[in-house]
Amino acid sequence: VTRRITAPEIRGRKGGEPIVALTSYHANTARIVDNHADILLVGDSLGMVLYAMDSTLGVSLDLMITHGRAVVRGSRRAMVVVDMPFGSYEESPAVAFRNAARVMQETGCGAVKLEGGIRMADTIRFLTERGIPVMAHIGLTPQSINTLGGFKTQGRDTALWPLIKADAQAVSEAGAFSVVLEGIVEPLAAEISRQSVIPTIGIGGSRECDGQILVLEDMLGYNPKPPKFVKVYGAVGTAIDDAVKAYAEDVRSRAFPGDENIYPLK
Ligand code: KIV
Ligand code: NA
Repeated sequence: VTRRITAPEIRGRKGGEPIVALTSYHANTARIVDNHADILLVGDSLGMVLYAMDSTLGVSLDLMITHGRAVVRGSRRAMVVVDMPFGSYEESPAVAFRNAARVMQETGCGAVKLEGGIRMADTIRFLTERGIPVMAHIGLTPQSINTLGGFKTQGRDTALWPLIKADAQAVSEAGAFSVVLEGIVEPLAAEISRQSVIPTIGIGGSRECDGQILVLEDMLGYNPKPPKFVKVYGAVGTAIDDAVKAYAEDVRSRAFPGDENIYPLK
């Protein structure tokens, strides 16, 4: 039995070997990503990537649990972190604990992630003191697009830097084992990474973050117009298109099934 990477181990990677994180939504990709990544994030981005929702706000706790369970089953080594969806934790620390406990019990994941800095500090403390490791997420927090006014890079107005730095400090003091810095101007993400005592994991952040995360489908090349912070490492969208096209041609020309694909009587 291979032991999984733990929250304290990730916490201990501050300033060390960069942390490799990717999203994974189901067993199929989890098996592959598990060979190379330290963290598999079952992100609520699955609502947009898998279900064509306009935002992550419509993702339910049950859906996160269904996908979380699949990713845990499909992996052995990496730490699995499951996103708490919109509406499942903001109301109070007690509600957050009840729902996060369900996620831990029903998926077998190693930690949960939730969005928010200072405003979520009490909740992060409540959960970590009761045995649930929390990854924090600050900067561009997609569950707040309606109050942020869209998917906007944070920190362009340097007057607001102290607020974002205070968010980073608050989640660290509250006991988060790491913090995602999303959509933050590079010099601010770098400064937060230098000052933070917990590992920072960047997405649209900085090379100076202690780790990086991307949405797997984005880096695989499914998304024809990926955002600037994505580096595309694969051409999976094209590979699927080519394969489906070849299959369609074979079916129409009766080249498929071939002799090797059928069951003769004797
Ligand atoms: O939902 C998600 O995929 C995320 C990452 C982008 C950090 O929260
Ligand atoms: Na998310």
